[in-house]
Amino acid sequence: MTTLRISEGDVTSARAQVLVVGVAKDDPLRVVSSALPATIRRSIERDLEKVGCDAEPGGTWRIPAPGPLVADSVLAVGMAGKPDTHDLREAAGAAVRAAGSVKSILVALPATSQKSLAAVCEGALLGAHVPLRVSGKPAPDPVGEITVASAAPRAARSAVKRGAVADVKATALARDLVNEPPVSLTPAAFAATAKKQCKGLPIKVSVWEPQRLLKESMGGIMGVGQGSANPPRLVHLEYAPDDAKQHLAFVGKGITFDSGGLSLKPAKAMETMKCDMAGAAAVLAATRTIAELGLPVRVSAYLACAENMPSGTAQRPGDVITMRNGKTVEVLNTDAEGRLVMGDALALASEAKPDILVDVATLTGAQMIALGTHVAAVMSNTDALAKQLADAGELVGERFWHMPLPDALRATLKSPIADLKNIGDQFGGMLVAGLFLAAFVPDGQAWAHLDIAGPAFNEAAPHGFTPKGGTGFAARTLIQLAREAAR
Ligand code: BES
Ligand code: MN
Ligand code: ZN
Repeated sequence: MTTLRISEGDVTSARAQVLVVGVAKDDPLRVVSSALPATIRRSIERDLEKVGCDAEPGGTWRIPAPGPLVADSVLAVGMAGKPDTHDLREAAGAAVRAAGSVKSILVALPATSQKSLAAVCEGALLGAHVPLRVSGKPAPDPVGEITVASAAPRAARSAVKRGAVADVKATALARDLVNEPPVSLTPAAFAATAKKQCKGLPIKVSVWEPQRLLKESMGGIMGVGQGSANPPRLVHLEYAPDDAKQHLAFVGKGITFDSGGLSLKPAKAMETMKCDMAGAAAVLAATRTIAELGLPVRVSAYLACAENMPSGTAQRPGDVITMRNGKTVEVLNTDAEGRLVMGDALALASEAKPDILVDVATLTGAQMIALGTHVAAVMSNTDALAKQLADAGELVGERFWHMPLPDALRATLKSPIADLKNIGDQFGGMLVAGLFLAAFVPDGQAWAHLDIAGPAFNEAAPHGFTPKGGTGFAARTLIQLAREAAR
C-alpha cells in the first residue's frame, strides 16, 4: 500500500513529483491551500488561467511547478471555495487518481482541523488504491508515498494517520473482494479468504458447511444455495477482547453471484451481480480492522454466503422453507434471495443478544431507485441507532439516509400458507425488504439495516475517491461505529 506521511514542513521546499492544491471558481480563479505563500498561489492561478482551468469540482489540471517550488509539477483539483470534509475527501481522491503512478505526491489542501486532515488523508489514500488485476495484465504501480501537509498538532497527526490507514486498508480489502470474479469467489472460497484474512489476529473463525447449516435449521441459506454446484457457507467471526465495552453484531449478505435463481434475471441485470457479496465483504474487512486496531469492543460477525443459481436442484417459486427462528417463508420469487440468507443470519446473530445488531446488504434494486448510487439507506427499529450510523457514515465519507419501516406495508408480506412470503408490495420495495428482515430480529433487540445496493458498485466512470467497480462501501462506517462503542 501507498505510504502516508503527515508533515508540518514547508511546502515550497518539499521534494515531490506532484504538488496537489485546490482551485476554486472565483473570479479570477483562486488557489485553495493552507500551506502556500501568496506569491506562489498567484503564480499558479495565472498558469491555471492559461491552460483553461474552469475549477469545476472534481476536474484536475496539471502545470509545471512555478520557480520557487521544489516539486516537479502542480496538480490543481477543482473544489468549493469553502470546502467541507466531504469536498476535501472527494478532491483529494480525484487529485491522487489523476496523478497516476508517480513515486511521490505532496498534498497541500486546506487541512487545518483534525476532521479535515482525516478527510484529506482518507481521500488521498482511497484515490491511490489500485484494483487487483485478475488477468495476466500487470497492474499499474500504486503511488509510492503521499505526504499531506498540515499544521495540526503532532498528537492529532499521528492519530489521524493511524485511523486513515486502517480505514483505507479495510475499504481496499472490501473493494478487492467485490471485484473478484464470481467463478473464483465461491462461498467456500469466501470462507477460506475470511480465514486467511484473520490469520494472526485475535479473531475466531468458524465455518458452517451444508451439513451443519441443515442441523442448525438455516433454511434460508440452504434454500438459496441448493441450486448451485458451489454449496453455501455461514462464516462466523468472533473478536472478544477482555476489555470489551460493548457487544456489536454484524451480518453481511454474501451472495457470491445472484442470477436470480429460477426467477432468472435478464442478462443486463446480471452483469454486475458479482457485487452481491459486498455487504459480507464490508463486514469481514471492518471486523478484521477492528481487531487489528485492538478496539475494546466485542464483535460477532456473520457472513451469509451462497450462490443463487437456477438448476434442477434449485428452490422453486412456491416452495416453503423454515428459517432459523422457526418462521416459515413462502418463496414466490427466488430473486428475493438476500432476505432469506439475511433472515437466517439475523436470527442467529440475535441469539447472543448483542448491544447493537447491524446488517449490511446489497438487498434491493429499489434502493437504487430511491437513493441512487451515492447514498445508501439505513432502516432501524431504533431511531437513535439510525442517526448514529448516518452520522458515523458522514464522518468517514459514506452517506446514509434514514428510511422508514412503515407498519402499513407489513401486511403485504402475508402469505396464506406460511408465516410470510418473500415478496410484498412492489412500491417501496426497499422498505418491504427491510420489514421482511425485521421479522427475524426479536423484540427489544436494537437493530439497523444498511441497504447498499447502489453505492457498493460503481458502473460509471471513476469520480472523487471512488474507482470503477467495487467501492468498499460501509466498511468504514462499521469501523467508526466500533470506535464509538469502544469509548
Ligand atoms: N441482489 C439484488 C439487488 C440488487 C440489485 C443489488 C441491483 C445491486 C444492484 C437482490 O437480490 C434482488 O434481486 N432483489 C430484487 C427483489 C425483488 C425480486 C422483490 C429486486 O430488487 O429486484
Ligand atoms: Mn436477487
Ligand atoms: Zn441479491
